[in-house]
Amino acid sequence: MDTASSTPRSPLHIQHVTVVGCGTMGNGIAQVFATCGFAVELVDLSAPALEKAMSTIARNLDRVVAKGGLDHESRDAALARIHCGTSLAEATHQADLVVEAATENRQIKLELFRQLDQLSPASCILATNTSSISITDIAGATRRPAQVIGMHFMNPVPVMKLVEIIKGYNTDPVVTATIVELSHRLGKIPVEANDYPGFVANRILMPMINEAIHTLYEGVAGVAEIDTVMKLGMAHPMGPLQLADFIGLDVCLAILRVLHDGFGQAKYAPCPLLVKMVSSGNLGVKTGKGFYAYQAGSKDLLVAPEFR
Ligand code: 3HC
Repeated sequence: MDTASSTPRSPLHIQHVTVVGCGTMGNGIAQVFATCGFAVELVDLSAPALEKAMSTIARNLDRVVAKGGLDHESRDAALARIHCGTSLAEATHQADLVVEAATENRQIKLELFRQLDQLSPASCILATNTSSISITDIAGATRRPAQVIGMHFMNPVPVMKLVEIIKGYNTDPVVTATIVELSHRLGKIPVEANDYPGFVANRILMPMINEAIHTLYEGVAGVAEIDTVMKLGMAHPMGPLQLADFIGLDVCLAILRVLHDGFGQAKYAPCPLLVKMVSSGNLGVKTGKGFYAYQAGSKDLLVAPEFR
């Protein structure tokens, strides 16, 4: 078989980690690896986005220092471990592990993995932070499907303990064990899942969010009321509509479409209100408006004018 694969390194030998994509998830993943002592290459197509990501990481590390979770020297050392760049070739040439956290789009990920396979060392493990796209499908774009795995972090990455580890159809059990061990080294709790639409996290979370949007759409209750029921009644830290804004309504819609296509069942069809909000560009926190209206620097939760 013409394959680029070679024996993956043990978790203790993983030192150089490349994170592809510096958005919310990518910068959080880079922060966690750097804080735990790994040398991180953070790569993105956009230099201004990388600058913004570094200031976000610095700000988030300052929060941890202010709370006594890290001393100043460790904070500075963590930041110094992150090197940014726009060249995928430079960022991957000595990677032991790549964690891809680019846009949640199947075609983009397939092309990226084709390139990552060409550019990274043969022993390198290629992980994806996809929320729902098939790992087996992504692995098929490479010559090393046994070394491709899902490493699904939760937002905000530095805070949330879970990493969902998704095994593709061809993922080598040694690779799975390596990534499980590595997740423990990051102070996370890994949970293994098989490669079916939405895996575990989003297969359960997204129908709840979609149902909350239907509840609003049908006029059963308002935005604040729906979220209050779930916060106070079920002890969720955020109501489902606030959580949808936090994740990004475009991301929620993309995941629901994967579930709907993958299972072919009407129960996964995205609510028309969600589809309309995404078409209108109201995507939640990142655009300043979704079910709530957001103001930079303010923690106040104001229902968006159209839902008042
Ligand atoms: N970096 C470092 N620390 C951070 C941080 C960050 N980016 N964001 C928050 N924190 C810390 C704060 O400093 C604070 O620390 P402390 O407990 O030591 O004081 C703590 O997290 C709580 O933050 P805040 O006080 O600012 O705010 P809240 O108490 O309201 O908590 C929250 C914020 C942790 C986001 C909480 O509301 C929550 O858990 N929400 C639900 C999050 C969730 O469900 N995430 C999963 C989304 S689904 C997903 O990601 C999968 C994808 O595929 C869709």
